[in-house]
Amino acid sequence: MAKKINVGALISGGGTNLQAIIDACLSNSIDANIIFTGSDNPGVKGLERAQKADIETFVVDYSQIIQSCKKGIKETDLPEDFNLEEIQSKQQLVAGDVSKEQIAFFLKSRAVAERKLLDIMLAYDMDLLVLAGFMRVLTPYFIDRINTESGIYKIMNIHPALLPSFPGTDGYGDTFRYGCKVGGCTVHFIDYGEDTGPIIGQKAFEIKDDDTLDDIKKKGLVKEWELYPQCIQKFADSLI
Ligand code: GAR
Repeated sequence: MAKKINVGALISGGGTNLQAIIDACLSNSIDANIIFTGSDNPGVKGLERAQKADIETFVVDYSQIIQSCKKGIKETDLPEDFNLEEIQSKQQLVAGDVSKEQIAFFLKSRAVAERKLLDIMLAYDMDLLVLAGFMRVLTPYFIDRINTESGIYKIMNIHPALLPSFPGTDGYGDTFRYGCKVGGCTVHFIDYGEDTGPIIGQKAFEIKDDDTLDDIKKKGLVKEWELYPQCIQKFADSLI
């Protein structure tokens, strides 16, 4: 049997992509094992899916952390190795029309949450982290602590559009509203921007004139469930 890579997963919701990856691992159609599933959102179906497959789960409740940061962030709340200037100079998530204070709050509050994720995740021997419907952006603070070897990407994301078109939080909605005749999904590596990292794979589908947004989402998800395991296998092939 081929050596298997260790994959960590982060989710925010229903976890149908997670399920597709779990199924591909269990049926040995990819050389991978999921070693944990974390969520920023308690009580979501994806956590149940992981537990059913005997995968360890955890929650870092982003909403609660951000709420508590709004009451004030003390120096001691921040990770010891947090350097605002460095992270500010690397980040490409927040545009120039946002005030310096807002950018600083964003980066600090996310780093508080990201440190909690890292404290749990770094205890595992992980080859790859997959974002499977994880609806939080990751800042350079987190990315640099996963991508520790220069030029080697270790975080993958699935996006519901054919990047570089329609980055952001509503890929299928944006595809639908634009009136596209073709939609699709993309698996890419995470870099410092929003949905800008190197593309690993894409799949497209036709949009008929009478397709609703719901039809597009359904067609898209079927493609996602095929694409994500294939891209994980591509990564495994590059390591094994
Ligand atoms: C999927 O459509 C995925 O592409 C999208 O969220 C959905 C999660 O579904 N991800 C993003 O929009 C990331 N920005 P799932 O929880 O059933 O896998």
